[in-house]
Amino acid sequence: MAYDHKIYRALPGEHNLTDYTEACEELRFESVERQFSWHSTGRLNIAYEAVDRNVMEKNMGDSIALYFSDGAKDIRYTFAQIKDLSDKFAAVLRKCGIKKGDRVGVFLPRSPELYISFIGIFKTGAVAVPLFEAFMEEAVKDRLGDSGAVAVITVTELLERIPREALPGLKHLFVVNESPDHPNVIHWWPEVEKSDALPIEWVDREDPMFILYASGADGRAKGLVHVHGAMVGYLITGQWVHDLKKDDVYWCTADPGWITGIVYGFLTPWIMGVPVVVRGGRFNAGDWCATLADYGVSVWYSAPTAFRMIMSGGEELLKKYDLGRLRHILSVGEPLTEEVLEWSLANLNQPIYDTWWMSETGMNMICNYRCLDIKLGSIGRPFPGIGAAVVDDQGSILPPGQIGNLAIRAGWPAMARDVWNDHEKYEEYFKIKPWFISGDAAYMDKDGWFYFQGRLDGVINTAGERVGPFEVEAKLEEHPAVDRAGVVGKPDQLRGEIVKAYIALREGVIWSRELHDQLRNTVKTGLAAHAAPREIEVVAAIPLTREGKVDRRVLKEWVLGLNTGQPK
Ligand code: WTA
Repeated sequence: MAYDHKIYRALPGEHNLTDYTEACEELRFESVERQFSWHSTGRLNIAYEAVDRNVMEKNMGDSIALYFSDGAKDIRYTFAQIKDLSDKFAAVLRKCGIKKGDRVGVFLPRSPELYISFIGIFKTGAVAVPLFEAFMEEAVKDRLGDSGAVAVITVTELLERIPREALPGLKHLFVVNESPDHPNVIHWWPEVEKSDALPIEWVDREDPMFILYASGADGRAKGLVHVHGAMVGYLITGQWVHDLKKDDVYWCTADPGWITGIVYGFLTPWIMGVPVVVRGGRFNAGDWCATLADYGVSVWYSAPTAFRMIMSGGEELLKKYDLGRLRHILSVGEPLTEEVLEWSLANLNQPIYDTWWMSETGMNMICNYRCLDIKLGSIGRPFPGIGAAVVDDQGSILPPGQIGNLAIRAGWPAMARDVWNDHEKYEEYFKIKPWFISGDAAYMDKDGWFYFQGRLDGVINTAGERVGPFEVEAKLEEHPAVDRAGVVGKPDQLRGEIVKAYIALREGVIWSRELHDQLRNTVKTGLAAHAAPREIEVVAAIPLTREGKVDRRVLKEWVLGLNTGQPK
């Protein structure tokens, strides 16, 4: 393995983290706990730390917590307003009988109500179940059904994707927009406005806060259980990785249907009293640049596909906007390529700091820091207090330069605590003791920098979004024309990977453009648009393993054009 990675030297300056080596030696997560009010009061709830505390202890009631715009409307909420509305929404939930431990779905497009709802749910001690707004009926049913949600908060446009008859446990449907034609729903705003506030419900640090469904290589998405105590990891990574300071304006572009949009989209910055920018609506390069400029965004957390889409707008696009306040840019979700890093250096006068983590890890794990050199192609070094290594299939640490399983020594504050309804699945992550096995391949160089080398398990990463091949295969196989399907990620310049499907047709079926469109649509309307295969290829048979499962290794070789000896 070559070690001559291009190096971008560390920047001098007043960073929150100035000495990485010392931090690694000295950080104890227990000492971070002192920064929370529960450390002295014994009363714990993330909603208190993220919102109420800013109002009640830090005198920040009038400070902006949320800048929201979607092109049509432009609204700001102070911490006091978020506190008031979330207090009231929590009381509405309680009036409906929702109590500590109950699961409540959040199926909303990015909007102020989404953030207020999350905080309100946490205040009751209930457990939020985030649902990405692009999910279609099947994905929504699976997640609400598996979590046993008793309520869901949504908008009228998404109501038809919630199959109430198939979800007998789902008792309450809240809609946040006006909806005179839907008698069986509770109207969020009128209820909140007439409600009184009730005291917050204190919880245990190990009590669940949200259940996030993440796609795996086999079976349905897994409900990763995250707990209130994770806030310890949020705060310290917000300080040292995101380098957040009191006067920052922070924009994490991820949707709260995904882990990044929850942990860094609002919880982490709010715990630190930092305002967040939320941009609703669809991606548009010009709108995003305008958002950076209009709100004076100083710290920006996004993904390579988004950077590439802005890059494709050309140098002229950026020149139209004053991005003078932008001082720290971070990336996550997919490999940060040289072209993107060089673009940022040339056009934004600063590097981009890559961060690696997963829904399962709950917080940034391997990162680049302002006080360390960036090595091109490296995801960086383990966060202080995190024991990362590259191990073989028996758990032995491999020497520098050798590719193996990217593993983390089990036990850190934000680690998912369980897989809802499937503890066995959870234990699979930890079967090579003492490691959490990520499913990613990586190597480490002799200086301790890590290099991501792709997924080992067939999970597809398209534009930073995680797609489980099994779910797409199952959907395609529901179509009467398809005998068997095999789905794999195909490298793509813009999106990192695209979803590619190989299909074996049933006897007598004739392949046509219409059938191609129908199949794409089956996935699009059944699961989610981002999971729909961008390429479909008909083959004589899908390669299977001895156990009769799709042989992902052969699919990968096919898609990469390698010679497998296995005919298509
Ligand atoms: C991938 C997103 C390359 C990886 C926070 C991981 C990355 C999966 C990076 C988790 C990175 C995450 N470079 N690949 N910096 N960060 N990944 O659960 O394969 O949606 O396992 O969490 O994204 O995706 P998830």
